[in-house]
Amino acid sequence: MPERNDPTTSARTPGPGTTSVWGGEAEPAQGAGTQVPIVRSVAFGYRDVAQWEAVGRGEAPGDIYSRNTNPTVRAFERKIQQLEGAESATSFASGMAAISNTLFTFLAPGDRVVSIQDTYGGTNKLFLEFLPRQSVEVTLCPTDDAAVEAAVAGGCKVLYLETPTNPTLKILDLARLVEAGRRVGAVTVVDNTFATPINQRPLDLGADLVVHSATKFLGGHADALGGAVCGGRDLVARIYHYREITGAALDPTAAYLLLRGMKTLQLRIERQGRSALAIARHLGGHPAVARVHYPGLDTDPGHAVARKQMRGFGGIVSFELIGGVEAMRRALPRLRYAHRAANLGSVETVVGPPSTTSHVEATAEEREAAGIPEGLVRYSAGIEDPEDLIADLDQALGG
Ligand SMILES: Cc1ncc(COP(=O)(O)O)c(C=O)c1O
Repeated sequence: MPERNDPTTSARTPGPGTTSVWGGEAEPAQGAGTQVPIVRSVAFGYRDVAQWEAVGRGEAPGDIYSRNTNPTVRAFERKIQQLEGAESATSFASGMAAISNTLFTFLAPGDRVVSIQDTYGGTNKLFLEFLPRQSVEVTLCPTDDAAVEAAVAGGCKVLYLETPTNPTLKILDLARLVEAGRRVGAVTVVDNTFATPINQRPLDLGADLVVHSATKFLGGHADALGGAVCGGRDLVARIYHYREITGAALDPTAAYLLLRGMKTLQLRIERQGRSALAIARHLGGHPAVARVHYPGLDTDPGHAVARKQMRGFGGIVSFELIGGVEAMRRALPRLRYAHRAANLGSVETVVGPPSTTSHVEATAEEREAAGIPEGLVRYSAGIEDPEDLIADLDQALGG
């Protein structure tokens, strides 16, 4: 069935709102349901063995076994592929599965990977614990363009970037660092979980691969884990091959939930970004707040680069309270319109400190080394009315 949003057959390249809704969705057969069905079957049956063999060799379209391919999962992959403007995409059981499978596809003993100290905590554990165990040389730089550029100049197989970072929302200059990676022949990978393709498209800036925790903004409803990798056909094929053997496949029901959530991606991202900016501005002048991190503030150190490479600044604000950890522990329970939980990017506001969220697996020393304050509050604005969120923060920070 043709896809209504296929850019190769449309006269006009559809915008991100249209792609959020229609991307990856095939025209239903005559009289069939309009929504992508959940295909739970583990295996797919064939009467004609020659056709079965052709599907197995990849010479005919079709599915054989759901650890490899599945129709519902394929629709999710097509939607994120189109949103990121990629040639190809594959999917995973979680964001960490996407990230670890990508790194392990390209890194072998003796190779070097360059990244930053404050990647998402789980990614950081791969760099500190699992990759060194495979004799991969790991260089983690301060989250600073010049430091990353200098490290990359020494040569590396993979350059792994995350911008904005979780949870301190630092910004890296993607065009500049992609160029540094290109000079040494590195595969440049960007975690685009925080920005989403609505606000930032790293492949347009020259990155080789984009990885996602689809669990967060893409799904947007905190009810499905998932991950994705998008990029050029050959690189994605290698990652897919690694995944089909190691087995971290996305479940079809999760794929369905992610697909449904993604239909409102552009609406949610616009709303959450507007709310986060209003909240960041408000907290910037609040007497209980010591520091606000948000790349949309023109006082933020990442603002100029963020303006250059992002269409919006995202739905996450982080801030430090006067009174540090103790003040944070007093304020969070008072919030009425926020889950205190280890998640972000959902329709509901979600808050938490790094010690129980992004960096729960890290030690206090590792968090300090990564420049992450223990009393930091990561605030993921939901789609509630921004005036209610601001009033809620005021009453929680107040007395
Ligand atoms: C930036 C970023 N990357 C990756 C992940 C890992 O995703 P998942 O929890 O889906 O494995 C997270 C999770 O919070 C994240 O924030």
